[in-house]
Amino acid sequence: MKMFVDSANLEEIEEAFKRGFPSGVTTNPSILAQEKKCDFKEHIRKIIDVIRKYGPDRPLSVEVFTMDPKEMVKQAEDFVEEFRDYKELYIKVPIGWDELWVIRQLRQKGIKINCTCCMSFNQAVMAAMADSDFVSIFVGRIRDAGYDAFQIVRQAKDAFREGGMRSQIIVGSIRHLMDVNEAFQAGADIVTVPPKFFTALVKNPKTDEVVKQFLTDFANWLK
Ligand code: E4P
Repeated sequence: MKMFVDSANLEEIEEAFKRGFPSGVTTNPSILAQEKKCDFKEHIRKIIDVIRKYGPDRPLSVEVFTMDPKEMVKQAEDFVEEFRDYKELYIKVPIGWDELWVIRQLRQKGIKINCTCCMSFNQAVMAAMADSDFVSIFVGRIRDAGYDAFQIVRQAKDAFREGGMRSQIIVGSIRHLMDVNEAFQAGADIVTVPPKFFTALVKNPKTDEVVKQFLTDFANWLK
């Protein structure tokens, strides 16, 4: 059970890593596009620097940004070469027919894969059979399409276990606080969470109330 930071924002990533709970970072082209325009590779390097400031290298997912399979392979190899000192780089490849070919090319070279944008049980299983290290299931988007997202996560988890598949499930596309709980309960190995949810994950009005009460009681006793 692990939590990743679903962001490319350096401050958000650092604020999370400062608190010790994240085990990795996921980005995608849209997430990167939310940052101030900059050199893409320099920005990824800055994310690596933040992760390293707070401990060992931890999984960082970077997605290819083309739909051409050959170009995907080239981009992936280029990322791996650029960040060759970072052993926890995972290349995100969306699930698809041609993309399975891409995954095979990259796996044969020992490149780590996060097969992303999975919206169904079948896609998740195919990604796992293709030997993806991570299989990312997008629960928010699955629900938008009217399906039971966590049922898909549960079924995928059972199938991976029963089929002896080594892929780990990342649940992404988190839209509500409760999605994090449900994802873990459904068997997600990892939940990748947008930083806007982090403070709410530890907040509870009853906690505030009791902490205040303890301090007041103690202050009165000290008088
Ligand atoms: C996961 O790796 C993705 O970055 C992310 O969670 C995508 O979700 P969304 O685009 O539906 O928010």
